Amino acid sequence: MKVAVGSDHAGLSLKNLIAAHLLSRGHDVVDVGTHEAMSCNYPDFAKQVAYLVRDGETDRGVLVCGTGQGMAMTANKVLGVRAAVVSDPFSARMTMAHNDARVLCLGERVVGQGVAIACLDAWLETQFEGGRHQTRVEMMEG
Ligand code: RB5
Repeated sequence: MKVAVGSDHAGLSLKNLIAAHLLSRGHDVVDVGTHEAMSCNYPDFAKQVAYLVRDGETDRGVLVCGTGQGMAMTANKVLGVRAAVVSDPFSARMTMAHNDARVLCLGERVVGQGVAIACLDAWLETQFEGGRHQTRVEMMEG
């Protein structure tokens, strides 16, 4: 899979860990930044990753900030993109299976590295189930 990753300063360490994990599993990674610890604005990176997913440039996207919340709020404003904040592997799996959430958002200040990677793997290993869930996903658009 080709996966876009992005973070602000508060998610930088976890984003780098996720990028390395994805590469070690044979995925292609597009890292939009940030690449430095200096304070920056999460919407800049959320939009870049959301646009890549929306335009089919990458299969999926992962966004990390302090809580994951601002990243998800921003990405969800991009039409056709569904982003979910998760902090447990079950939710990560289900948001792919039932909601076709192709953008996963994690909070570096919320989850430890082990839980974050478990969420990532659960989500990556899951495919959207379609069917009645496709109908419901289409109903989301206002
Ligand atoms: C940065 O301090 C923090 O606000 C940001 O990383 C994120 O948690 C916002 O949703």
